[in-house]
Amino acid sequence: MTETRSDAHVEPHLFVIIGGTGDLTQRKLIPALYHLSSQGYLHIRCRVLGVARRGEFDDAGYREWARRSLADSGVAVDEDAYAWCCDRLHFHRLGKGEPEDYQSLAERIASLEEEHGLPGNRVINLAIPPNAFPSTITGLAEAGLGSAPGWTRIVVEKPFGSDLKSAQELNHLIHQHFEESQIYRIDHYLGKDTVQNLLSFRFSNAIFESLWNRDRVESIEITVAEDLGIEGRGAFYDKVGALRDIVQNHLVQLLCITAMELPPALEANFVRDEKAKLLRSTPPLAAENVVFGQYAGGSAGGKDLTGYREEEGIPEDSRTETFVAIRLHIDNWRWQGVPFYLRTGKRLPVRATHIVVNFRCPVLTCFEPFACDISCNRMVITLQPDEGFDLYFNVKVPRQPFRLEHERLRFRYKEAFGDLPDAYEALLLDVMRGEQTFFVRADEVELAWRIFDPLLKELPQVHFYPAGTWGPEGAKKLVSEGEWHGQAPQT
Ligand code: BG6
Repeated sequence: MTETRSDAHVEPHLFVIIGGTGDLTQRKLIPALYHLSSQGYLHIRCRVLGVARRGEFDDAGYREWARRSLADSGVAVDEDAYAWCCDRLHFHRLGKGEPEDYQSLAERIASLEEEHGLPGNRVINLAIPPNAFPSTITGLAEAGLGSAPGWTRIVVEKPFGSDLKSAQELNHLIHQHFEESQIYRIDHYLGKDTVQNLLSFRFSNAIFESLWNRDRVESIEITVAEDLGIEGRGAFYDKVGALRDIVQNHLVQLLCITAMELPPALEANFVRDEKAKLLRSTPPLAAENVVFGQYAGGSAGGKDLTGYREEEGIPEDSRTETFVAIRLHIDNWRWQGVPFYLRTGKRLPVRATHIVVNFRCPVLTCFEPFACDISCNRMVITLQPDEGFDLYFNVKVPRQPFRLEHERLRFRYKEAFGDLPDAYEALLLDVMRGEQTFFVRADEVELAWRIFDPLLKELPQVHFYPAGTWGPEGAKKLVSEGEWHGQAPQT
C-alpha cells in the first residue's frame, strides 16, 4: 500500500468518483477534470469512472450529462478539448451498495484497466454525503479496493466527522483499510492559490515575517463572509450549521497557515506537523468567547431576503447557527496574548474572505497637537474576491502641518497574473501527483474538533440578525476595539 511521491507528472490512472452524478461532481469535479485535461495535465491513458447508486446512464449518457454539467457551471468549453476528455468518461451503477454491488464495481474497474492498458493506479474520490462515508469505505475495502496493482488514493470530502468522537471513529475505520499516505482529506480552501500563497508571503518576505509576532501584532481577524443564504441545501445545512460547515475546517485552516511556524521544508508532513503544533497550542473554546447567530428576514441591494427559518427544508423553530464569531488565543511563544478573531456567516452584506492583521500602534504623542486622525498600520489580505494585499500606513497630507491620512500600498492578483484557477483543479492535480501538503492529516482534524467540542456539547444561544447585515451585535463586543476591520471589501 505504500506509495512514493511524484512531482513531475500525472501517471496513468483511473479516477473513480463515488457520487458520480451528485452536486459536487457536477459543479466542481467535472469542470476541474475538464480543465486539467484541456491543459494537458492528464496522461493520455487516464480514465474517469463515475459511480452512482441511481442513474440509468450508459457511458454515452454519462458523457452527455457531463457536457450539460459544464454548461450549467458556465465553463467555456473548447469542443476539441472536450471531445478528448469526454471520450475518457465511463459510468457504473452501484445499486443499493450491497457487498455484491461493490464486488461488481471492483470487476468493472479491473476490466476498464485491462481494456485501456492502465497499470492499476486509482484515485477513489468520495463525493458523497458524510453519513455515507463509513458504509462506502467498508464496502470498497471488503471488495478488495483498498489496494491495487499500482497505487490507490482515497479522497474524502469535508465535513470529516461531526465532533471529536465521530472524527476519531471515522479515522479509525479508514485507517483499518488505508494508510494515512493514501488518504486525501479535502478542505477546498487549501487549494486556493491565495491561501497557498500565505506560506510564501509569510516565509519569503523578511520584512513581514519579522513583524509577525506578539511584539508587533495587536490582533488578527479572519473573516469568511458570504452574501448567499443556504441555496436550496436546507436539509444538509440545518444538520451541520456554520461551526461545522466553515469554522472547524476552512477557518481553522486559515488560522493555521496564518499563525504556524516555518516548517523545515515545504513537504507534506513538515507543513502538517506545524499546523498540528499550532492547534495543540490553541485551548478549547469557552462559550463566553463565541457568538452564534441566525439570519432573520432582511434586505440587500433593494431586495427582500427571507429569514433562515422560512427557507425550504428548515424547521420553523430551528436553532442552527448561520453565523459564528469567535475570540481565541494561541498559547505559544509567538502569539501569547494576541487575540485572534474568527467570523463567518451566511447572508452577510458581501462575499469576502480576508485576513486583517492589526499592527500595534507606535508612540504617537508628537502628532497629538495636530489633532489628526491617526490609525495604526494594518495589513488586509483579501483571499477572495478581488484577491490581493493592502498595507495601510499614515501619510502627511501635503501643505497641511502634520495632518495625517491613512493610505495604502496595493497589490492585486488579477493585475499581475490574470484569473486564478479553481481550488478543485489544484487539489485534484495534487491527488493525482501524490502530493499531500494541502490535505488535512488525521491528527489535524481531531485537534481542530478538540477546540470546538465544548461548544458542541453545550450549544451557545443563537442570536438573530437581519439578513444583509454583519451578524448579531454581540459579535462586535468580542473584538477589543468594538468594531471588526475590513467590514466591506477594500477597493
Ligand atoms: C463549502 C460550504 O465548504 O464552502 C458552503 O459547505 C460554502 O456552505 C462554501 O458556501 C464556500 O466556499 P467558497 O470557496 O465559495 O468560499
